[in-house]
Amino acid sequence: MPLSRADFDFVRDLVCSRSAIALPAEKLYLAEARLGPLALAEGFESIAELLGQVRALPGGGLPQKVVEALATNETSFFRDLHPFEALRRDILPALIQRRSAARRLEIWCAASSSGQEAYSIAMLLREHFAGLPGWTVSILATDISSEILRKASEGRYNQAEINRGLPARLLVKYFRKQGTSWQITEEIRRMVEFRTLNLIEPWPPLHSPDILLLRNVLIYFGIETRKMILGRIHRVLRPDGYLFLGGAETTLGLDDAFERTEHERAGCYRLRRPSARA
Ligand SMILES: C[S@@+](CC[C@H](N)C(=O)[O-])C[C@H]1O[C@@H](n2cnc3c(N)ncnc32)[C@H](O)[C@@H]1O
Repeated sequence: MPLSRADFDFVRDLVCSRSAIALPAEKLYLAEARLGPLALAEGFESIAELLGQVRALPGGGLPQKVVEALATNETSFFRDLHPFEALRRDILPALIQRRSAARRLEIWCAASSSGQEAYSIAMLLREHFAGLPGWTVSILATDISSEILRKASEGRYNQAEINRGLPARLLVKYFRKQGTSWQITEEIRRMVEFRTLNLIEPWPPLHSPDILLLRNVLIYFGIETRKMILGRIHRVLRPDGYLFLGGAETTLGLDDAFERTEHERAGCYRLRRPSARA
């Protein structure tokens, strides 16, 4: 279904104002590919008709569906592996030691998409830290899209999703076959709490995370939005906590409160000691 330039500009403004996702002009084809199926699913004959309704009812549910359709939900189990290796080898053992009196760990996957990242952490904790019995371990997974979070909280994945990054050993241990898909066990599913949260709106009160994964979402935002979000993270992260960004993302030139850790290719950052800041 074709999308006119004027309609694309309207979509671009809508998406940017509601999610901060920047859609450059060359993404017109992407908007066509994503909005065509949405128009049909919502009973419209064209994207133009769908957008007519969005304009007419800006307070309805349709604008949010347009925004969600334009978000990239690409993710996989143990994506990029290095962050999970760093967590297993160094970061979690050190944190567990530092938190041994409080016996509490707070992990936040912001922009979690369909849940693979949060469930990867849950499986890692079960496998290598025996689930930390006697501890309060909270894994909060948030995303702007309630639709993707519905899928995430079901914990059901198709074969293609399973094939992307999940070791066979963990598949056998933590998933059950249901028809053509795989259902994550209740034990793992219950470890993760899913909630909608738009990173550009005011954040609700949150426990200060010890580990915050904000991977592969800043790349969709402009510089000022990246700075704003990093500034907020700087304020909520535990002073000795860890921030993980995606492979193509950095705090460099955006917020000098952070410094990269020595964990090679893990995309891990910590807060500098105040005296060491520029
Ligand atoms: C590419 S996925 C990244 C998933 C996962 N973090 C990973 O690295 O595999 C980006 C996610 O960011 C979410 N997102 C986009 N804009 C957002 C916003 N303003 N607030 C919260 N989440 C947002 C999208 O819905 C999408 O699920």
